[in-house]
Amino acid sequence: MKKIIIDCDPGHDDMMAIMLAYASDKVELLGITTVAGNQTGEKTFLNALKVLTLLKAGGLPVARGFDRPLTRELTVAPEIHGVSGLDGANLPEPEINGIDEHAVDFIIRTLMQAAEPIILIPTGPLTNIGVALLKEPRIKKNIERIVLMGGAVYDSNITPAAEFNIYVDPEAAAIVFESGLPITMVGLDVTNKAMLTFKDINEIEKLAGPVSSVVAPLLRFFARANSDIFNFQGAPLHDALAVAEVIRPGIVKTSRLHVAVETAGRFTRGRTVTDVYGITNLKPNVDVALEVDVPRFKEMMIGAIRELDKR
Ligand code: RIB
Ligand code: CA
Repeated sequence: MKKIIIDCDPGHDDMMAIMLAYASDKVELLGITTVAGNQTGEKTFLNALKVLTLLKAGGLPVARGFDRPLTRELTVAPEIHGVSGLDGANLPEPEINGIDEHAVDFIIRTLMQAAEPIILIPTGPLTNIGVALLKEPRIKKNIERIVLMGGAVYDSNITPAAEFNIYVDPEAAAIVFESGLPITMVGLDVTNKAMLTFKDINEIEKLAGPVSSVVAPLLRFFARANSDIFNFQGAPLHDALAVAEVIRPGIVKTSRLHVAVETAGRFTRGRTVTDVYGITNLKPNVDVALEVDVPRFKEMMIGAIRELDKR
């Protein structure tokens, strides 16, 4: 069974990523670390505790990380995720406290003690991951792969040039992309297609289970926000697709390409500059997701919600 750590900024799609991992018998979720992104560090940490309370996952360690990027001012996304970071339904007040250890120290300790390599699944800005690599480079030997939701080859969302997670902390992203570690970039080119439509959301609501009855209104809020801003016809589950690729490798088709993170551009901050034609002759450093099996992803996502309703 693959061992994973999810580093996230819940966030509706981060919540779906956690749910997909927690429902799966193919991965062992060792812990959740949180970072500021979709909302402040305080709110994303609280949201992670609320989601795990809903899932009755009290035994899972949750460690809070950075409240701001390495050098930049924090950018949050209330227009997409709301003031709480998980608007749309009343999640239960947390019945778990999280652990009294910084996310970076939890990541380092867990990796250094690991008997076998661990897959890191970052689904927010890469601040915690970048600092962990700087603070203790020896963790690299126990990182099997980093499968991250972030970036894009051709798409964007927070600016015309960049995807939110990379944009928020481009310096941390550069540390990760230049680390030499095996990286799978699950970017907007595929995650914008990994969508639950309004019809799918209505079907989830009809399940009327303890998890589905909370998830449906949350997804509807997220879908409406994406519809208002991007004219999408549903909820793009960006982060859950990164988890899906770990559970079922090959759900995205990748190409090995050179990717550099823009940290100096006036209009291009956070762009994942992808050398699709090999023009730079730079050694490819990232497996970039370019295609996705959408029906298979949706089947996995709805199957996970059904599974969690039964627990
Ligand atoms: O650009 C989409 C990404 O930014 C997702 O991870 C979403 O949760 C936000 O963090
Ligand atoms: Ca996220």
